[in-house]
Amino acid sequence: MVCEGSWLAAVPLTGNDNVHLTLEDGATLGHFNHIYATQSVIIEKDVLTADKVYVSDNLHNYEDVTLPVIKQPIKQCKPVVIGEGSWLGEHVCVIGASVGKHCVVGANSIVIHDVPDYSVAVGAPAEVIKRYDHKTQTWERV
Ligand SMILES: CC(C)(COP(=O)(O)OP(=O)(O)OC[C@H]1O[C@@H](n2cnc3c(N)ncnc32)[C@H](O)[C@@H]1OP(=O)(O)O)[C@@H](O)C(=O)NCCC(=O)NCCS
Repeated sequence: MVCEGSWLAAVPLTGNDNVHLTLEDGATLGHFNHIYATQSVIIEKDVLTADKVYVSDNLHNYEDVTLPVIKQPIKQCKPVVIGEGSWLGEHVCVIGASVGKHCVVGANSIVIHDVPDYSVAVGAPAEVIKRYDHKTQTWERV
């Protein structure tokens, strides 16, 4: 399900022949999400995103200071996967990085480094603060 006001796009702005944005079964996006793929963004099964979440695999280039940013090419970042069963809180941004399965990303966090499976990550940039220990079956502080 995709709530009102969300904008999903898969556009070959960086020259990729095969651009895809995949939303698997049960994935639920909140209001005003902005999901933009220029190569690959995969939102796996049963992911939940809160409102105003941004997920993308690209950036505006800003290297040439003689040109306005809007006139510079789009830069391709790494493909993005939001893993099965994960939850992205309100105002989260995920840019060129992946979130593992069954993770929680706290509100207002900016994910620019991969978050491993079964983690809670918060902050800008987001850092892992808890991991699930399958032996003790508890969430442990990192
Ligand atoms: C991350 C979250 C789930 C809390 O998880 P939790 O396991 O209960 O975490 P805790 O409350 O024990 O906090 C652990 C630490 O992380 C910090 N923290 C929690 N959420 C944070 C956030 N969003 N950003 C930065 N730090 C955060 C706490 O301050 C605490 O730090 P401390 O131990 O140094 O004091 C929650 O804070 C959050 O952000 N939820 C998202 C809510 C939302 O967006 N809902 C939309 C509806 S779909």
